[in-house]
Amino acid sequence: MKKLLSVSFAFAGLAMSLTVTAPAMAQTPDEATMKLGQRVFLMCRSCHSTENDGRHKVGPNLNGLFGAKAGAKADFKYSDAVAKSGIIWSEETINEWLVKPKDFLPGNKMAFAGVPKEPDRKALIAYLKVQTK
Ligand code: HEC
Repeated sequence: MKKLLSVSFAFAGLAMSLTVTAPAMAQTPDEATMKLGQRVFLMCRSCHSTENDGRHKVGPNLNGLFGAKAGAKADFKYSDAVAKSGIIWSEETINEWLVKPKDFLPGNKMAFAGVPKEPDRKALIAYLKVQTK
C-alpha cells in the first residue's frame, strides 16, 4: 500500500511539471531557435522591417504577416503576382515562398534566391512569428 502511494505521488509530480512547461514552449521558441532565426533574418533585413508601423524598404514591412493576405499593405506597390495570388500567409505558405520565391509566385519582384535549408527556414519562421506580432 505504501509503495502504491509513492508511485502515484511521482506521477502527480510529473503531470504537474508537464503542465507548467508545455504552454510556455508553445508561445516562445527556445533561445537557440530564436538565435538561428535572427541570423537567417539578416538576409531579409535590408529589404524588410518587422515592427508595428515599420517603414517599407525595398520590400514591404512584415508586421502582422501571419494570417494576412499576400499583398495587404495598402501603401506598398506589389507586383500583380503577389497582389493577385490570393495567398494567406501561414507557416506553410511562408515556408513554400521562402524555398524559392521565383518558383512559388512567378513574376514577383522579390529579388531573393531563397533559403535552401529547411532548419534555417523553420527557425526563421519561428523568429518571424514573434517579431511580426
Ligand atoms: C532584395 C530585397 C529583398 C530581400 C533580400 C527579401 N525580400 Fe521579401 N520582398 C521583397 C519585395 C520587393 C517584396 C514584394 C514582392 C512583390 O510584390 O512581388 C517582398 C515580399 C515579401 C513577402 C510578402 C509580403 C506581403 O505583404 O505579402 C514576404 C513574406 C517576404 N518578402 C519575406 C521575406 C523574407 C523572410 C526574406 C528573407 C529570407 C526576404 N523576404 C528577403 C524584397 C526582398
